[in-house]
Amino acid sequence: MKKILITGGAGFIGSHVVRQFVNAYPSYQIINIDKLTYAGNLENLKDVENAPNYSFVKGDIGDSEFINDLFSKYCFDGVIHLAAESHVDRSISNPMSFVETNVKGTVTLLNAFKAHCNIKTAIFYHVSTDEVYGELSHEGKFTEQTPYSPNSPYSASKAASDHFVRAYHHTYGIAIKLSNCSNNYGSHHFPEKLIPLMINNIINGKPLPVYGQGANVRDWLFVEDHAKAIDLIYHKGRNGQTYNIGGNNEWKNLDLVKLLCQQMDDKIGNPKDTSIKTIAYVTDRAGHDFRYAIDSSKLMNELGWKPSVTFEQGLSKTIDWYLANKAWLANVTSGAYQSYYEAMYR
Ligand code: NAD
Ligand code: DAU
Repeated sequence: MKKILITGGAGFIGSHVVRQFVNAYPSYQIINIDKLTYAGNLENLKDVENAPNYSFVKGDIGDSEFINDLFSKYCFDGVIHLAAESHVDRSISNPMSFVETNVKGTVTLLNAFKAHCNIKTAIFYHVSTDEVYGELSHEGKFTEQTPYSPNSPYSASKAASDHFVRAYHHTYGIAIKLSNCSNNYGSHHFPEKLIPLMINNIINGKPLPVYGQGANVRDWLFVEDHAKAIDLIYHKGRNGQTYNIGGNNEWKNLDLVKLLCQQMDDKIGNPKDTSIKTIAYVTDRAGHDFRYAIDSSKLMNELGWKPSVTFEQGLSKTIDWYLANKAWLANVTSGAYQSYYEAMYR
């Protein structure tokens, strides 16, 4: 039985990756380690928590004693590394926690992988972001050849971790795969990020804070399509290679918020334009990258990946999930979700 470690599996994307692997590969043993920071929520994994091929261990990827014990116990065949501090605004107010988890945590995992795994056969897969490439103006897209030029403390920490993963491949010969993905959206997304924050505020009749004039552009991908891409790259991607993943789906923030307002008003049964009137233009994010756009042609041509849903379908599914899971939202916004671990595992 192959033993696969997934880090950060209680987070937004991590929980979808855990679900993808637990359901698609009953013959793998999936071990999820997560520190359960504010972003980690075991309620995200309710549907797989009793699966025979799944187990959860609470712990910090930066704790080398804990990580070394875990690696010597399990001797993993593969690591899919998603654990991170992920929110750009938090990185602006507290950069050091991003260094601790994203840089030191990644190097701690790499050291344990090098010491305890069979480096001829085992794979270290690092899940990264398109923000390492910096920002684009109105034209062009990021390719795998775009030079790194990170602008925020978050993207600087992810760029550093990408470099460490490649350096361990080059220096010590470990097998690695990397992917750099654009903005994800979907279920179980913490409501500090644009789409779930707007959905939550519309449900609760709160103002919708748009940074600056809302002119910045992001390329949105449905999270389940990201999880499928990770599965494909993990199994079929070439050793040492990087793959860009994007939705080919660019939206100006203001246009996206307006679309969300319309769809939410329709679904909730609000009178036309109820939500749009609550848009509030607020102070811009410091150093706000103008535009991201991803060229995924390497992944599409080499491995045959393509997104499975249109943006309209994905957004509609996402809104429906939040409307059907108001208890999840209430638990997350009140902080009650943080007692789930105590209730389930102690
Ligand atoms: P998230 O913030 O929702 O989840 C991060 C998870 O990591 C949480 O469960 C948290 O508890 C855990 N974690 C944090 N610090 C830890 C530590 N020291 N030890 C163990 N666990 C720890 O993040 P996400 O949006 O799901 O992103 C997952 C990964 O994908 C990150 O590496 C991020 O950089 C990358 N990524 C995210 C996006 C996006 O749009 N959200 C896009 C591209 C890449
Ligand atoms: O590009 C991939 C990255 O996408 C990931 O690596 C990050 O982990 C993820 O958080 C995301 O980063 P962004 O900064 O692009 O996402 P966020 O949802 O925070 O913001 C999206 C855009 O919306 C951005 O231009 C800022 C703007 N925004 C955000 C919030 C939270 C607002 O206008 N108002 C808001 O309240």
